Amino acid sequence: MKVMIVGGGGREHALGWKIARSPLVDDIIFVPGNGGTEEIGECVKADTGDSGALADIASRRGVDLTVVGPEAPLVAGIVDEFNSRGLKVFGPSADAAQIEGSKYFAKDLMEKHGIPTGRARLFTSFEDAREYVESTPAPLVVKADGLAAGKGVIIATDTDAAVKALSDCLVQRMFGDSGSRVLVEEYLEGPEVSILSLSDGRDVAHMVPSQDHKRAYDGDEGPNTGGMGAYSPVPLLDADTEAGTQRNVMNATVEAMAEEGIPYRGVLYGGLMLTGDGLKVLEFNVRFGDPEVQAVLPRLESDLVPGLLATIDGTISAYEMEWSPEYCVCVVLASGGYPGKYETGIPITGLRAASSDSNVEVFHAGTRREDGKVVTAGGRVLNVVALGKDFGNARGLAYQAARMIDFEGMHYRTDIGHRAARSGS
Ligand code: AMP
Ligand code: GLY
Repeated sequence: MKVMIVGGGGREHALGWKIARSPLVDDIIFVPGNGGTEEIGECVKADTGDSGALADIASRRGVDLTVVGPEAPLVAGIVDEFNSRGLKVFGPSADAAQIEGSKYFAKDLMEKHGIPTGRARLFTSFEDAREYVESTPAPLVVKADGLAAGKGVIIATDTDAAVKALSDCLVQRMFGDSGSRVLVEEYLEGPEVSILSLSDGRDVAHMVPSQDHKRAYDGDEGPNTGGMGAYSPVPLLDADTEAGTQRNVMNATVEAMAEEGIPYRGVLYGGLMLTGDGLKVLEFNVRFGDPEVQAVLPRLESDLVPGLLATIDGTISAYEMEWSPEYCVCVVLASGGYPGKYETGIPITGLRAASSDSNVEVFHAGTRREDGKVVTAGGRVLNVVALGKDFGNARGLAYQAARMIDFEGMHYRTDIGHRAARSGS
């Protein structure tokens, strides 16, 4: 069959790498893909925000399955467009994608169905919100309701910062309409874990847990980023807590959506925090986590494609995933200046040498080809991923490979997975 993958980051390269290994798949098209996906399939330029144009490509090219990577096209209704034209597509409908597209929708669903999450209040009026934060002790978390490209969550350590965040959203409209409604949430503390679950609207198949590293610098210092690295498994999540989370959070949410008459099909990403008061949901996403899935897919021994198809056909209860007991570490190599301003078009060296070990993969995130050479094209440039018999081994291999790669300004965290390695795994 022919598969089309929408998106152009490390997540889409990793998905393409895994999907290409399926005996069911002959051909892959990436829209738009990147400098790395060109080695797996054809890359077609198109606006990923234009679902009509993407559906045109899928029907013209005889695509049998489309896999949508990023959230924006899902929230905008790409799945509804494809379905109305009889095209097979992996992902939730626009209605179901509200679970990421509206933080209020998600919070309301969780409160109504007893899914554990932090307490929050919704505001549309700046005056009401200010009154509330002035009478509630900081720290508080201010969240723009809609999609804000990962920038709509502000941790306010004091009341002034909370008022400024409210003003940025509700008065200055820094996030446009996404910030016209705001949640003020209690501040939670603890390590974070991500769970990715495949759902057909009724049943669920869970992937192994992973942990992202959101801050830019070692020791979880510096500004928030899209994710500077990830690892799997997550030793701090013991088997009982993992099973409880699968049942009380992931299955419970899929059931809640079904009860609301909005069945959730696709991958549900639970962003969870292990607080002193138990595990709580920070957010749901409607896509595979990036870079989490880059640390999860190398451990998946089963074919992924039947799982993707089963979410559409309603047969996920019959899909079983076999996992390698190996440990996986993914290190993100970023452009100088990221997550702030950075340059692009900088030549990258050492890619071939870095991926020469059979336990190492280098997924491209922000790259493109220019005159046959790979150059930088984004903030997060490459994902160096290694499998090992323990975390020490996987980290050693990943960093050894990372050191072979070079581009001007390149920076990366040197402590990905260090917490897990310290726990003795
Ligand atoms: P979200 O987009 O909701 O996952 O938020 C992005 C990041 O902000 C999370 O990964 C957390 O690190 C942090 N965050 C979100 N909500 C809270 C909260 N209630 N308390 C503390 N940190 C939070
Ligand atoms: N790694 C965080 C995310 O995909 O949202």
